[in-house]
Amino acid sequence: MPIREIAVSNFKSFRKMAIEPDNFNIIIGSNAAGKSNFIQVFKFIRDIAKYGLNNAISLQGGVEYLRNTIIGPDEPFNFRIVYNLEEKLEEVIGLWNTIPVSFEPFEILYEFELTFIDSGEYYEITRDLLVISGNYFLSGQDAVEELGAGTISLTLVDQSIRYSIHPPTGLDIGDADLFPHLFQRKDLPTGRLIMNQPVSVPGIPPMEWIFRGMKVFDFDPMLLKKAVPIMGKTELEKDGRNLAIVIKKIIDDPEKKREFSLLIKDMLPFVDDIAVEKFMDMSLFLKMKEIYSKDKYLPASFISDGTLNICALIIALYFESRPVTVIEEPERNIHPYLISRLVEMLKDAARNKQIIITTHNPEMVKNVNIDDILLISRDAEGFSRISRPASKQEIQDFLEREIGIEELFIQNLLGME
Ligand SMILES: Nc1ncnc2c1ncn2[C@@H]1O[C@H](COP(=O)(O)OP(=O)(O)O)[C@@H](O)[C@H]1O
Ligand SMILES: [Mg+2]
Repeated sequence: MPIREIAVSNFKSFRKMAIEPDNFNIIIGSNAAGKSNFIQVFKFIRDIAKYGLNNAISLQGGVEYLRNTIIGPDEPFNFRIVYNLEEKLEEVIGLWNTIPVSFEPFEILYEFELTFIDSGEYYEITRDLLVISGNYFLSGQDAVEELGAGTISLTLVDQSIRYSIHPPTGLDIGDADLFPHLFQRKDLPTGRLIMNQPVSVPGIPPMEWIFRGMKVFDFDPMLLKKAVPIMGKTELEKDGRNLAIVIKKIIDDPEKKREFSLLIKDMLPFVDDIAVEKFMDMSLFLKMKEIYSKDKYLPASFISDGTLNICALIIALYFESRPVTVIEEPERNIHPYLISRLVEMLKDAARNKQIIITTHNPEMVKNVNIDDILLISRDAEGFSRISRPASKQEIQDFLEREIGIEELFIQNLLGME
C-alpha cells in the first residue's frame, strides 16, 4: 500500500492527526466531525504538487482557514507522510574503490512545517525534509553485492537543498565518491518546497508525480448528468462532471467496454446497455437502456442518481490509475439494499490501490470489518480526533453517541450478542 503514515497538525479542525492507513479505510463520523477536513489533507498535498504551495493555500481559503481557528497562528502547521514506492529503480550514485555503488529506493518520508508570521497573515517554510530509504548495492564485475538499507536525505538549509548520505554500515562512501551531478547543492526560491523542485534524487520518481497519484472524488449527482464538450479531459474529474466523455473512451475500446458492463451488471442487473450520444453542438451525453425495454434508451436526465453514481464509482475504482483513491460518501443516492455489494466492490478494488472513503451511513458499517474502520469525532475543545476502534463495543458506543443509532439496531448491525 502506498501511504503508510500521514499526519498533520494545526490543520482545519485538527490539532493533531496521525494515522497509519491500510489498503481499505472507511472513516466514520457524524456531520461536522471532520471527515471532509481529513480528506482535505490529501487535496492540499495534491494541490501543492499541481499548483505550488501558495496557490494550494489559497484554494484552502488562505492561511487563516488552512490552520485551526482555535489554535490560530501561534503554532506552526506540520505535514508528514511516509510513502511506499511501488516502482523501484536502481541507479548508480558513485564509486567505492572504483566499484560502482547503486541505490534502490523503497520508501520516502516527506515533512514540512509552515510557521505563521506578521500576526498570522503570512507564512514561512521552517522545515522541509525528504528522506529516501533504499538498498545499497555494489556492482562488481561478476557479482552484485547487497549491502543493506540506508538513506539519502534532502533538507532545506539557508534556501538551498543540502544532501546527506547515510549508507549501511560497512560502506564508508564519502561525498568525494558520489557523482557530483546527482548531489549538487540547489538553491530554492523563497516559498518553494522541495517537493515542487524537480530534484534529482537517484531512483525516485518526481515528488510531484507521486502526490498527483492521490485523487479525491466527491461526485455531484447534478453534474454526473451533464452533457460534456467532446474535447474535454478524459480523466474523470473530481466531481464527475465529465462522466460522459470518460465513458465514451471506455466503450470505444471493446475490451474495456466488456469489463465496464460486467462491473455495472454486477451492481445493477437491470442495466442492459450504457451508451453515449453526440448532440448537434458536438457535446456528449449519456444514455441507458434497461432490460425492461426493447430498444428505448433513456437520456441521462432520466437515469437515477444512484445509477450514475455507481458508474462514476466503477470508473474511479477500476479505470483510473491512481495508487491512492479517496472518495467522499460513495454510498450517496445508493439504495441500502445495494450497499453490501458496493462495499464488496470497494474492497475488491482495494486489492490494487489504496482506498480511503468517508461515510455517516450505518449500513456501510454493517458490511465492513472492524479493522477497516476509523472513527472521527470532535472532542470537548472542538478538535477533530481520529482513531481506530479497538472493539465492537467501542464502535457501538460511538454509533449511539455520534450517529444517534439505537443500541439494539447496532448490536444487530455488528452481529453482537
Ligand atoms: N480552519 C478551521 N479551524 C477550525 N475548525 C474548522 C476549520 N475549518 C473547518 N472547521 C470545522 O470543521 C467542521 C466541518 O468539518 P467537515 O470535515 O466538513 O465535517 P464532515 O465530517 O461533516 O465532513 C465545521 O463545522 C467547522 O467547525
Ligand atoms: Mg463532509
